[in-house]
Amino acid sequence: MKLSTEEERMLAGKEGPGVQRAMELLVAVGEAYDAEVMIKVSFSHLLGTEMSHYPMGQFGVWSRELVEESVEGAERFKVPTTINPTFLAPELGERLGYPQPYFDEVKASTAHGARIYERLGVIPAYTCSPFFIHPARKGEHLGAAESAVVLFYNTVFGAMANRESGPTSLASALTGRTPLYGMHFPENRYGQALVELKDDVHLGEFTCSDYSALSYYVGGLAVDKIPVFQGFPPDMTMTQLKYLGISLAVSGGLPMLHVVGITPEASTLEAAFGNRKPALKLEVGKKEIDSTARDLCSAKNDRVELVALGCPHASITEIQEIARMLQGKHINKEVTLIVGTSEMLQIMAKKMGLVDIIEKAGGMVIHGMCTACPFLRRQVPRGFKVEPVATDATKAAHYLKYAGVQTWFGSTEKCIQAAVTGKWEAD
Ligand code: F3S
Repeated sequence: MKLSTEEERMLAGKEGPGVQRAMELLVAVGEAYDAEVMIKVSFSHLLGTEMSHYPMGQFGVWSRELVEESVEGAERFKVPTTINPTFLAPELGERLGYPQPYFDEVKASTAHGARIYERLGVIPAYTCSPFFIHPARKGEHLGAAESAVVLFYNTVFGAMANRESGPTSLASALTGRTPLYGMHFPENRYGQALVELKDDVHLGEFTCSDYSALSYYVGGLAVDKIPVFQGFPPDMTMTQLKYLGISLAVSGGLPMLHVVGITPEASTLEAAFGNRKPALKLEVGKKEIDSTARDLCSAKNDRVELVALGCPHASITEIQEIARMLQGKHINKEVTLIVGTSEMLQIMAKKMGLVDIIEKAGGMVIHGMCTACPFLRRQVPRGFKVEPVATDATKAAHYLKYAGVQTWFGSTEKCIQAAVTGKWEAD
């Protein structure tokens, strides 16, 4: 790769071993993708410290040592940098009765990493919805990890980002660079798969979980072909776009989507496809959406032990909606209900009286932790179980189901009803 003088300096170790390793990694990735040069990024989003080097939370000394080595000698992140949620919020761990040694290990690992990243100037958002805190403009280049985050920035803001890993997003934060390839080129961002809805799909009645199931279904068929949705109402909300997007990155490997007339690179169908013909056409009806939702349910009985809402982290309007649904109700004594969000939105929700309504009903608004990870069976301590879990997000349902956790998937309203009765109502 052809590097600038400043990039050569970093590669030569003039800014310390951490920045040097970061540049070595970016050069290796760039060469693997035939990138000719580096490009400056304006923003990075990191995975949680304890999950940076191994997905889904693995703790211990080696993980801490890797974080330390990765940033050795660095003074500040070079660009504004947000960070994903940590693994487990202390108040939830205590409430669920996780064994103390396990809990202590998680706390020690996350606190250690947080101290290091905060010293380097990370924006301590600890959220997988950083786009509600740090927006981007069209054409900005990012070096961000977390599939849902990358998908949202590419799709809704028209920012340009590849699906980065924990180590490469950290390398971008340390160097302010990413190799120029893939989604950083406009011509690689055109749609390839046309998604049309059958007449029996009524978007006016769609819940967020319907958008989420549609996304999951399309991702499974489109796989790596950027989908273009047409026929969607022009007043789609950010929250609906969030749910339409995220699961494309779970059932498929997609970094973005287009919605004709709504997202910035899809003013028309022709613009979305770059005047090319779709390589794939998909027609989706109610049957496909309903069966996708059914397939995500793996619970064997109608009991519900935990209701997990906010994956990715809930927007303020989602919290408002959940509070409205819980107003005057009481959650079943056997059920824990959590709403995951960022600390900033939790504070706002508290000021608006929404947190009080949810807590009065017996639920919890949790900030800074992943809504699904602490319940994955291979992550919970041996002999400890929190299931069946009910959720309104296909991403959480996917990870829980495939980690062997009994799962119910359905609308937020259905999840709340289950929290109140302790039972999942069959359709
Ligand atoms: Fe966020 Fe965890 Fe879902 S990181 S996107 S709440 S699986």
